[in-house]
Amino acid sequence: MGTELRAERNGPVEIWTIQGEARRNSLTGALVRELSARVAAAAVDGTLRVVVLTGAGARAFCAGADLKERARMSAEEVHAFHAALRDTLLGIERGPQVFVAALNGAALGGGLELALACDLRVAAEGAELGLPEVSLGIIPGAGGTQRLPRLVGVARAKDLVLTARRIGAAEALAMGVVSRIASAARLMPEALALAEQVARNAPISLRQAKLAIDGGLHLPLEEALALENRLYQDCLASKDRVEALRAFAEKRRPVFTGE
Ligand code: COA
Repeated sequence: MGTELRAERNGPVEIWTIQGEARRNSLTGALVRELSARVAAAAVDGTLRVVVLTGAGARAFCAGADLKERARMSAEEVHAFHAALRDTLLGIERGPQVFVAALNGAALGGGLELALACDLRVAAEGAELGLPEVSLGIIPGAGGTQRLPRLVGVARAKDLVLTARRIGAAEALAMGVVSRIASAARLMPEALALAEQVARNAPISLRQAKLAIDGGLHLPLEEALALENRLYQDCLASKDRVEALRAFAEKRRPVFTGE
């Protein structure tokens, strides 16, 4: 599918590694196209439950837009790049899989925005996170001004966006930008253990829970609760719910099929 993103499958979990260490895994047009194609393929892959997204090397998860490529782009090309990136991030956020960002190093600008579109974020102790766009004459344009305040609240989001400052993993954890940190050596084992723990659960439940949380956030409480109830009802009709009850009675682990 291309050379910018390596995918390794391990049962229900896939690791996607951005392959651009020399440019700190920054986002080229080709990378966004590959990511978009992978997200589209994942959306119709009923056996893939969790994707762990990370970057090659120890320095960066993703350093944002490839500023060297950007300098050569026309205004129309920049526009098209951004539209493709925004669509791809929406595809991750709305996709049926649970996405875990394993932040192995710097996650800046579009790199942090990519991580914010994921469901869970784990950072290596040395990782550096930030949205430096206002120091570059732009604003975060791939969801940063919207997803960050939804995640950590307006005050903290403005503290990051308006200063353009970079924070370390400990501050990112304290702010709630990431939910876990690990040493560099433990990052992938931790991220994979998290992925496997998620992947053991009922697939329909995972999908519906993700939709309920993300879809309800911007709604008035009554509508959000109605959404939750609709998504809950869908689970009641599943074979996996019956299997879970049977497994409980039989004192064994359930075997979920996603039906
Ligand atoms: N686009 C294109 N190339 C980039 C890049 C980016 N966003 N970020 C880093 N690179 C390139 C550097 O130009 C350098 O290339 P060179 O070897 O040809 O000189 C190479 O990656 C290594 O960069 P360096 O800064 O030496 O690496 P580092 O490991 O010390 O630091 C970062 C990594 C990511 C912290 C640092 O490169 C950085 O701050 N980059 C800019 C991030 C940014 O502002 N992104 C835009 C957000 S809108």
